[in-house]
Amino acid sequence: MIVDLRIAVRTHACLLLLPLLVATGCKQSTPLRPAPLLLQGAVDIEVNRLLDSIQVTHTDTIGAWIFAHGSIDGYPVIVSRTLMGAAHAAAATALAIDRYHPRAILNIGTAGGYDTALHYGDIVIGQSAVSLAAFKSPPLPAHGGSHPLEWTAMDLVPRPGEVNNLLHEGTATQFSADSGLLAAAHRAQAYTTGRKVVDGVIGTSDFWNQELDRIAFFRQHWHVSVEEMETVPAAQVASIFKIPFLGIRVVSDNVPNGELAFDPRTADAVQDFAMRVVHEYLGRL
Ligand code: 5AD
Repeated sequence: MIVDLRIAVRTHACLLLLPLLVATGCKQSTPLRPAPLLLQGAVDIEVNRLLDSIQVTHTDTIGAWIFAHGSIDGYPVIVSRTLMGAAHAAAATALAIDRYHPRAILNIGTAGGYDTALHYGDIVIGQSAVSLAAFKSPPLPAHGGSHPLEWTAMDLVPRPGEVNNLLHEGTATQFSADSGLLAAAHRAQAYTTGRKVVDGVIGTSDFWNQELDRIAFFRQHWHVSVEEMETVPAAQVASIFKIPFLGIRVVSDNVPNGELAFDPRTADAVQDFAMRVVHEYLGRL
């Protein structure tokens, strides 16, 4: 009964407004704006070149997060500085999706190489991303030490059809890249000269790992190419809302190669590559 009443009121209001809408030609004067592309980087060095490229019209600040609005090739783009780490990246992604309804999300930044074939400035297109953050240890008594290589991975993401949030042991949380974004990245790769660009697996946790045995463990189990701190939580939130997602990382350090010092200048390269990917993606829309 209440529903019927609401429909009746709405219908009546529409009928009353109809002559006004026709008279003002209101429909023609408000063309639909396409859903924006969302470009994410954690810190200033990972977004400054993107900001320079999008002709920022205005910036929204929500809590600790900034969202700069502009365009590329006439298409609306939002550059989001997510801040570092999983919680920040997840929150920034949820806010952006709820507020701006992006068409697709590109998450970029620096990362530590696990693969010895990767060096400073090389770029990894995240064909998939795996969580290196959720594990269950076997029980050990006091003074039994801690043995991370014996921990079992856990997946905390509900499976399709799962009513409650169950804890899945023995598998890690993994996300595949969107095929359209991946194809755009491959077209951009074909244009890139003088720099190595490869497909790979991005591993995420709030952890800066410099233990070679742990690195070997992650390579053996999940073929991880690089580690960083934002891709999986951003991909996880994007997947809930079914928004196409791709992570792209530049190698800023590489422990197995002895390249221990973080090189912040590498962040320029991943932004330049991301811009090429965006042009390629927009070119086929
Ligand atoms: N391990 C973890 N995160 C790294 N980052 C760069 N190199 C590494 C690494 N070896 C990135 C993270 C985070 C910041 C610390 O730099 O994604 O944003």
